[in-house]
Amino acid sequence: MNKEGLKSLTYGVYIINTVNSGCVVNTLTQVTSDKVIVAINKENYTNQMLKKHKKFNATVLTQNTKSEVIQTFGFTSSKDNDKYSKFNTETDSNNIPYINENMAALLECEVINEIDLDTHTVFMAKVTNTKKLSSEEVMTYDYYHKVKNGVTPPKAPTYEKPKKGFRCTICGYVYEGETLPENFVCPICGATASVFEKID
Ligand SMILES: Cc1cc2nc3c(=O)[nH]c(=O)nc-3n(C[C@H](O)[C@H](O)[C@H](O)COP(=O)(O)O)c2cc1C
Repeated sequence: MNKEGLKSLTYGVYIINTVNSGCVVNTLTQVTSDKVIVAINKENYTNQMLKKHKKFNATVLTQNTKSEVIQTFGFTSSKDNDKYSKFNTETDSNNIPYINENMAALLECEVINEIDLDTHTVFMAKVTNTKKLSSEEVMTYDYYHKVKNGVTPPKAPTYEKPKKGFRCTICGYVYEGETLPENFVCPICGATASVFEKID
C-alpha cells in the first residue's frame, strides 16, 4: 500500500495522564461535541493503566513545552520511573496529576468504550470537564517535527521504520544517513555521537 497520503493528515501533541502513568500522544481527536478518541500502543504502560482506571486527563502541549517534558513522557516508560517527580504538577478533580506549565488546556475524560486494533487500543472517552490553562500557541505535530526537530518513537501509531541510520541509545532519536558526524549532538536529549548505535 502507498502510505504517502497519510502524511498529509494533521495532529496536535498531547500528554495523556492517568493513575501512575502518562505518555505523549498525537492521536487524540475530538469526534463529537463531548467525545474524544485516542490510540495507545499496548506496550505502553499507560495502556494498562487506562484499562484499569478508566479515567484520564489530556493536556494540550504548546510551542513552549520544554523538550525535557516530551523526552520524559514520550521516550521513557512510567513502568520504570516516576515521570511526574521531575516536574511541578497539579491534580484534576479525579486526583490525576498533570503538568500545568506551558500547556494550553486540560481535558478531564472518562473511558466509555475500547476498540482492539491489534498493536493499539483505541479508547473512546466522554469529556467531563475542560479548563483553559494558557493562551500560548498550541504545538502541532508538524511544528514538533519541523521546528523542534522531533522524532516519532517506535510505539507511536505514525512510526515508520527508518531505512538506514544511527539511533540514540538514550532517547531513541534516529539520524538517517550513511555516516554520523563525529560532533553530532542528539537534538532531543543532547547525547553525544558516542552513544549512537548503527541500524540497518
Ligand atoms: C510526538 C509523539 C507522539 C506519540 N504518539 C503516540 C500515540 O499516539 N500513541 C501511543 O501509544 N504512543 C505515542 N507516543 C509514544 C509514547 O509516548 C511512548 O511510547 C511513551 O514512552 C510511553 O510511556 P508509558 O510506558 O509510560 O505509557 C508518542 C511519542 C511522541 C514523542
